Amino acid sequence: MSQVDTCLAVIDQAANGFVPQIGMVLGSGLGPFADRVEAVASIGFDDLPGFPQAGVGGHAGRLVLGHVGGTRVAVLQGRAHYYEQGKADVMAVAIQTFKAMGCEALILTNAAGSMVTEAGPGSVMLLTDHINMTGVSPLFGAQGNQRFVDMTQAYHHGMNDAMRSAAKANKVTLHEGVYAWMCGPHFETPAEIRALKILGAQAVGMSTVPEVILARHQGLPLCALSIVTNYAAGMSPTPLSHEQTMEYAKMATDAVERLLHAFIKAFETPT
Ligand code: HPA
Repeated sequence: MSQVDTCLAVIDQAANGFVPQIGMVLGSGLGPFADRVEAVASIGFDDLPGFPQAGVGGHAGRLVLGHVGGTRVAVLQGRAHYYEQGKADVMAVAIQTFKAMGCEALILTNAAGSMVTEAGPGSVMLLTDHINMTGVSPLFGAQGNQRFVDMTQAYHHGMNDAMRSAAKANKVTLHEGVYAWMCGPHFETPAEIRALKILGAQAVGMSTVPEVILARHQGLPLCALSIVTNYAAGMSPTPLSHEQTMEYAKMATDAVERLLHAFIKAFETPT
């Protein structure tokens, strides 16, 4: 039995036929959103073979299944990053399990540095595209023609429009931008940030892009939100640290939770 099949059996045992509509990955600082789910089941990653053994502070490591505003969701509270083990496909089983469970779409979230002055710490950014600066793919070693994934419209236009509407209706200021994936775990140099700006990125972070690639490989439509926790290196006198990331992620939590709640409540299967 594959790891995904084993995960499905564990999930079915715990949640008895529950079929989520949306899969979600909660990044640094957004973990508490899982507490807003009317949970049907909660399963520790330890019980799900191939799921990430989350290691970074702020990541609880469990899969919560339940309802948000009447919509069925499967929420990953915690994720793993490429920088932890140097494995770009560390989220592969989790994303494949979302698909196998029946998810129709994904919402990915992360904490990121901002490269635009308008979007300061505590603001929220909708990702419109990304630049993979790492040179690696979570699909290294994948077989078959499906591995040549079209990334032209990786961030689903309809879902992004729905996110914009939810933001407007709930008076959440929603910035938009292109996310540059850097491998981490070190932060960037000011020279790297100047280079990323020239390349056309507005946000920088150490996650999400491998999940986007894995999801598109599975044919899952998705959208992604960054919580801006800091101005990128060289843009502010504040030194960069994980503690600062966690602290500032909390500033945006309220707005992001309202936004997510509204989006999920109004969710329609993307076409
Ligand atoms: N750079 C990379 N990753 C990050 C940052 C940053 O400035 N802030 C939060 N995650």
